Amino acid sequence: MSGQREQFRSRLGFILAAAGSAVGIGNLVGFPVNAAKSGGAAFLLVYAAFVLFICLPVMIAEMSLGRHTQRNPLGAYNSVSHNSGVWRIGGWLAIITPFMIAVFYQVLTVWLLAYFIGALSGNLDAMAQPQYFGEFINSNTVFVYLVVLTILIGFILNSGVQKGIERLAKVLMPTLFVMLLLLTAFVLTLPNALIGVKYYLVPDLAKISPEVISNALAQAFFSLSLGMGILITYGSYVSKRESISGGAKMVALVDTSVAFFAGLLILPAIFVFNPATDTGELTTSSVSLVFTFLPKIFLSLQDVFGYTGANLFASAFFLLVFFAALTSQVSILQVPISAFQDELGYSRLKSVWSLGACAALLVIACTVSFGMVAFFTNFISYGGADKSFFDVVIDVFYDTILPLNGFIVCLFVMYRWKTANWNQELTEGDAAFVGSWTQKYVNFSVKTFIPVVLFLVFINTVCIKFFGFSLTDYL
Ligand code: PHE
Repeated sequence: MSGQREQFRSRLGFILAAAGSAVGIGNLVGFPVNAAKSGGAAFLLVYAAFVLFICLPVMIAEMSLGRHTQRNPLGAYNSVSHNSGVWRIGGWLAIITPFMIAVFYQVLTVWLLAYFIGALSGNLDAMAQPQYFGEFINSNTVFVYLVVLTILIGFILNSGVQKGIERLAKVLMPTLFVMLLLLTAFVLTLPNALIGVKYYLVPDLAKISPEVISNALAQAFFSLSLGMGILITYGSYVSKRESISGGAKMVALVDTSVAFFAGLLILPAIFVFNPATDTGELTTSSVSLVFTFLPKIFLSLQDVFGYTGANLFASAFFLLVFFAALTSQVSILQVPISAFQDELGYSRLKSVWSLGACAALLVIACTVSFGMVAFFTNFISYGGADKSFFDVVIDVFYDTILPLNGFIVCLFVMYRWKTANWNQELTEGDAAFVGSWTQKYVNFSVKTFIPVVLFLVFINTVCIKFFGFSLTDYL
């Protein structure tokens, strides 16, 4: 290992960086889509309960494991378990998962950048055409944006945790909050917006079904960046003077608030576009919502404030999501980078290059899997559907593996690291933790029902994705 481990400079810097990781496409798009599909306020309530009662304890477990070991996830599992074979699997999964998530997330981030530039150059009428998205993702322009984005991310990562990631988060996160509030306030002044607000805030409890419940948990888990090794890695850069549980609560609060405001922006915008919207008809896919449906909505705003105004609004929105995606992307790539640094003793520059080269090949394979190259487009079929390479990466690493990783972290912390040692780490920088409600609750929940719930969600997702049925069908 080379010299002393880097650290976040301040508590605020750490919280903004961790929130930067957590706030991403999941909050700004995934959450509103799910909320729109699953009864608005009813979904919001279930989601908030999961964040508080299931995700927060897992987040605390991940961060404290990282800070205790001062390592990347692989090193963290190895050092606590003294290289025991079984636990190594947990470590490897917590490295490979973020790496593969980074691969598909890079593709989405490239599209966001391109849509931002597209709207900024006044191209919204073309972007709102149904065939535009399909043509765009199969055009060579994508590669231009890909190169630009890759260089930008490589540059940030190479600047290090404090000068790269923390500094980026300190600038982009406050900008993002302000933009989100302004856009939301603006949408709320438009005609018919209140129909959307009502749908979003007045709960229809009859809409809560087993499916809504399992979607809400999956969404909360992804949104808080759990099961991706990120919070273990970020924990390893946090000073012993900080309170882990306090930091985790702040990050969860920021992340949930951003999701909440994104709902307050997008749901009313949908009703401004068409006051008679039948939410059951809305798409289930975040990708098609952002890239095909939203441009149509934005274009319709020209009736209210002209074509240029509509383009400006759209570009502000895409820039917002792009910023959120960029801070998430650097956080997730930091996981394998720190593994290269800690485990192989590579310098930061060498780690960034080696990782960038491996990732680039996979990103290209994803980029050409929408029709450009037949092999990657028709990669495999399972669960009754044909899948491209991009689909496989999403199904396996985004949809399926996260709850499994969360399950492993819980077991590891409780049964290998042991409660007493874990609590001792949580007391560092936070004397008030001992005897607090937080302590009682996290100890109890991580030992008992949280791993059970996560394991069931994992099994259920495997059934849905790969075998075409859901356990909830039998409820
Ligand atoms: N929490 C992020 C989101 O909501 C998930 C994520 C984190 C994805 C890091 C990629 C990288 O979008």
